[in-house]
Amino acid sequence: MQEWEQDSPLIIEKGKGSYLIDTEGRKYLDGTSSIWVNLHGHRHPRLDRALITQLRQIAHSTFLGLSNPPAILLARELIRLAPKGIRRVFYSDNGSTAVEVALKMAVQYWQQRQPKAGPKQSFLHLKMAYHGDTVGAVSVGNIELFHARFKPLLFPTRQVDPPYCYRCPLNLAYPACRMACIDPLEALLKTRHRELAAVILEPLVQAAAGMMVAPPGYLTRVRELCTQYQVLLIVDEVATGFGRTGKMFACQHEGVTPDLMAISKGLTGGYMPLGATLTTEEIYRAFLGRYEDWKTFFHGHSYTGNPLGCAVALANLDIFRRERTLPQVRKKSRLLARLLRPLAGLNHVGDIRQCGFMVGIELVEDRRTKRPYPLELRIGYRVAQACRVRGLLLRPLGNVIALVPPLSITPQELTRMVSILDQAIRETTEEPAVSR
Ligand SMILES: Cc1ncc(COP(=O)(O)O)c(C=O)c1O
Repeated sequence: MQEWEQDSPLIIEKGKGSYLIDTEGRKYLDGTSSIWVNLHGHRHPRLDRALITQLRQIAHSTFLGLSNPPAILLARELIRLAPKGIRRVFYSDNGSTAVEVALKMAVQYWQQRQPKAGPKQSFLHLKMAYHGDTVGAVSVGNIELFHARFKPLLFPTRQVDPPYCYRCPLNLAYPACRMACIDPLEALLKTRHRELAAVILEPLVQAAAGMMVAPPGYLTRVRELCTQYQVLLIVDEVATGFGRTGKMFACQHEGVTPDLMAISKGLTGGYMPLGATLTTEEIYRAFLGRYEDWKTFFHGHSYTGNPLGCAVALANLDIFRRERTLPQVRKKSRLLARLLRPLAGLNHVGDIRQCGFMVGIELVEDRRTKRPYPLELRIGYRVAQACRVRGLLLRPLGNVIALVPPLSITPQELTRMVSILDQAIRETTEEPAVSR
């Protein structure tokens, strides 16, 4: 806040397509998709229209004990698109709440499914995970910088190292490692399955952890182990969902069906806050009973199932079909990979990780030893500042530059984005400016 008070903060007034426009009329490429939410560009006529049309009906009525047409239609559409076996939708209002719902549902499911067995109420998650900023989501997260202060508030969990191939915790290399990083997860499932309600992870890409891309087959193996040890699998598709990785949902790359799935961000194409937790018929049925059986899932937010959000989400999904968004993303992802290739040769680029339109460029002080830049050098922030003066807005993840373009970006805009980033990385890391 001290810096914010001294700086001149950017005030974004308008947007169009891949661009954000500030109060001074300056245009910036939206390199974060407004923090990973925007898919089809700003001011998409169909999304604007869907909101206006819904406004003529009603902006909001509670979802507690009632329903509304856009929420019903959206649930049907989500089920159609979700991994096979996902049949039910529970709405909330953002990514963190969608995760909270999944955690609470998992615990209550086991209470109702096996009332006589010992409690299955703890969670297994990855170190460096990020699942949101509410206390439950922080409990299953582990980003030291964000979370350390709140430790006294958090519930205990089990953690294992993430599949971070560039800095493999076991010092092995893929594929010769045969994914040995999964062994500790298996060992914990084996010894602790009686107390574990669920494993939670982001499928394929641990996004806020630094866009760490898991090796192929990692998610499949986690699914197999969860099934074997009767522990639920929660996938957090808040960042990876809605085409970001080239499929509608990341777990569809490996044909994996989770037991619970948290979605938000791209759900409304970046227009409105909305979240949902999707689940299977089996889990849903464990919550059915007479009132006095006390199986009700008591979790409701004021804006749960907001009609404006659901209406714009429906239009958002419709655009996927009309504009053939997924095949386009896959094609443009290949272009993006080609554009990024020369950056891998820069002196301070340690690793470039990409999965579809999710890119992490890890900057290192020493490429040979992979020595990281000290955080206080704020190298990622400085690269982002250098991008900003050139007309590209980014938000780094520590020393990792995250590039998450809108799915609708044109090849020309994508080329410009990477060119700006290339210049900014060179200027920031290769000039004498990088001094301690
Ligand atoms: C994987 C993941 N889960 C959950 C969240 C939390 O979502 P929200 O910011 O909408 O609460 C985020 C946000 O960045 C996320 O990346």
